[in-house]
Amino acid sequence: MARENWGSSLGFILAAAGSAIGLGNIWKFPYMVGENGGGSFVLVYLLCIVLIGLPVMCSEMLIGRSMKRNVINAMSKLEQLSHRPIMRTILCLLATGLVTLFFYAHACGLVILSALAIWAFSKKGFAIAGWICTIVALVILSYYAVVGAWIVEYIWRSLSNTLTTGSSFGEYISSPWHVLPSFIIFMTLTGIVVWGGIQKGIELASKILMPALFILLLIIIGRSLTLPGAMEGVKFLFKPTMEAFSPKVCLMALGQAFFSLSLGMAIAVTYGSYMKRKQNILRSAGCVGILDTLAALLAGLAIFPAVFSIAGPSGVTAGPGLIFGVLPQVFNAMFWGPVWAICFFTMLLFAAVTSSASLLECGATVFIERMRQGHKRLSRSKAVLFGFIGCTLLGFLTVASTADWSNIPWVEKITRWFMGDLTQGTWFDTVDNFASNWCLPFVAFITVLLVGWAWNPRKLAPKLLAEGDDIQRYAWLLNTWSFLVRWVAPIAILCVFLSFTGLVNFEKIFNLF
Ligand code: PHE
Repeated sequence: MARENWGSSLGFILAAAGSAIGLGNIWKFPYMVGENGGGSFVLVYLLCIVLIGLPVMCSEMLIGRSMKRNVINAMSKLEQLSHRPIMRTILCLLATGLVTLFFYAHACGLVILSALAIWAFSKKGFAIAGWICTIVALVILSYYAVVGAWIVEYIWRSLSNTLTTGSSFGEYISSPWHVLPSFIIFMTLTGIVVWGGIQKGIELASKILMPALFILLLIIIGRSLTLPGAMEGVKFLFKPTMEAFSPKVCLMALGQAFFSLSLGMAIAVTYGSYMKRKQNILRSAGCVGILDTLAALLAGLAIFPAVFSIAGPSGVTAGPGLIFGVLPQVFNAMFWGPVWAICFFTMLLFAAVTSSASLLECGATVFIERMRQGHKRLSRSKAVLFGFIGCTLLGFLTVASTADWSNIPWVEKITRWFMGDLTQGTWFDTVDNFASNWCLPFVAFITVLLVGWAWNPRKLAPKLLAEGDDIQRYAWLLNTWSFLVRWVAPIAILCVFLSFTGLVNFEKIFNLF
């Protein structure tokens, strides 16, 4: 059976942008900006996108398009093409470092798991990285959908005009039975989009939903900017201040750039594998990066002026509750409040569904193609159903324990044994931290090592272009890409990784100077 392809270049760009633009831009970016000093964070974030995010994204798309297969097979094929055992040695060293760290963090389960991974790595090689990101994608979906559920609830509240009269955000998330129906609605929406397939599902949904999202954002910005005192918010977003720069801000910005561009999770590999040869990867990745960044900045512009005007400067540090806790108040104080609220949360739902669909798609592609390899046929609907059931079951745990562990004490015990000191406040925080801060940089690191060092980026670079493009014209871009992939990206990712693991304290090192 022939693999499906994207119907058009625009379709691909919109679908990839649909995956990238999501809660990361509209929910997480503003609250990270609020917590990390405004304009300075934004500046570093932009640098991270250009210098690290985009080269990594090009590499992932290149792997996908060259290999034309799911991420697991692509990784192992890539390894066969390279003849550099040094790669394996580096990775084994890194993994051994991790085991040691987990051991000191009393994370018994993780030590066992990593030891198993090293063993599997020696047998199966880089395919393991593909497995890791497939599993991580599904795990991320399980809690991403919970935030999606909150959005469904807030749309309902806006429609029934109970946005500020209903229970507070904190009360709402701590009552699982209230979150559960919206969670199932959100997962079902995701399932339906992926079930539709590449062209009729994801591509169609993105073509309609992405432009709608930008139009809605612009409308809300118009309203937000015309509130009294709105300029303070704009200044906060765009004016960097020297004292707000710190290594922590740099590292947070890099992590956020990864999450926001959906990197390190095989999404770009999977989507790239449906890409035609006549598409220019540099241009496509550039467009996705610009759209993603634009969405984040527009979200900031929609939110900060309104928050400054209505809640004052103290409102911006509200953390993850910025959107759900503070914004309803903001809408409430606005003329036509419920209308803006409905627009805003509907837009957020659009953004979240296209991202969660990409996470499920990634798992579904792997299931289908791995089964076919074993000469068994698995239909798309069944693959989607398996992914759906798995993520929904896992998501129940998140729903039950967003506020604290009290509903699932037995899971807390197991998690504490498994993760040791790495366990965070709740199951939600623990899974989020582990999946996005640990697994994601790990896979991205392997990707740049493979592309930058195992494969030869100089030879590869022309493959980034479309068939028939003039290589001379793009020469400087291709050279820049090779340099970034070989040096800048791996070193920066390693720094993030080391700092997240707590192995190196960059703040202390910087303070020495
Ligand atoms: N990039 C998405 C966002 O910004 C989140 C995401 C991460 C989606 C990884 C898919 C994979 O919300």
